[in-house]
Amino acid sequence: MAKLGRNDACWCGSGKKYKACHEEFDRKIEYYKNLGHLVPSHRLIKTPEQIAKIKEACKVNVEILDTVAEKICIGMSTEDINTIVNEVTYRNNAIPAPLNYEGFPKSVCTSINDAVCHGIPDENEILMDGDIINVDVSTILDGYFADSSRMFLMGNVSEEDRKLVEVTKEAMLKGLEQVKPWTFLGDMGQAVNDHAKAHGYSVVREIGGHGVGLEFHEEPWVSYVSKKGTEMLLVPGMIFTIEPMINMGGPDIFVDEENDWTVYTDDGSKSAQWEIQVLVTEDGHEVLSW
Ligand code: MF3
Ligand code: CO
Repeated sequence: MAKLGRNDACWCGSGKKYKACHEEFDRKIEYYKNLGHLVPSHRLIKTPEQIAKIKEACKVNVEILDTVAEKICIGMSTEDINTIVNEVTYRNNAIPAPLNYEGFPKSVCTSINDAVCHGIPDENEILMDGDIINVDVSTILDGYFADSSRMFLMGNVSEEDRKLVEVTKEAMLKGLEQVKPWTFLGDMGQAVNDHAKAHGYSVVREIGGHGVGLEFHEEPWVSYVSKKGTEMLLVPGMIFTIEPMINMGGPDIFVDEENDWTVYTDDGSKSAQWEIQVLVTEDGHEVLSW
């Protein structure tokens, strides 16, 4: 990319001259880059217009999850959850992002008990008393992307499993607390990991979060086994997910050989996941979808 002149229009689309807009900001990023840090490209730094559009997509995503929360019950199939997601999505003139994404056959991921993520809704899979389930909803509205997930407890869930779900939520929120500009993504990752480990759980290493907004999965890759002071520099305008998968047993996982999607824990232990979509602001962060 050719270097912008100080009197050229800023890359952010504000219409202001570069020198009066993002020149200082870019210098600061350059400073960190020269220190050897991974830094965001301009495409990962959303403009106010893009942020407004992404927030609209997030509103629909939250409405879908709220509707699932209202209707989910024992005896329902995961295909029924898919139907709910489709109804609310299309009513909002949106598109379910998972559908046909790299061949994914349904509109939502539904992952029960030892399923870590990427469960495929199925009319023969019935929600049972004691199940814990993650419902992961992703929405495209007017070309902009939203992505978040929640856990649901079906009926009489064991104390042990409830705790896994609760601690996983806490771990995600501990990570969120770390999100502020001019810090590193690894600060967030370490906070998630520390909390999971303190409870004797393990964090899935192979699957992480991601930048999101203009595409479903953008840079940066978001790890939860990272260390403070490492990974990408965070700057205002970045949007990504925090979506740790935490296992009661060991961290190892495998992918279902038949459907090539669903991820399970190797040892059959339960796994929980919560996902939020977060914007880095001037003084901290804003949760856009949960
Ligand atoms: N919602 C998942 C995520 O958090 C997306 C999985 S890809 C899919 O990244 F095709 F399975 F939907
Ligand atoms: Co995601």
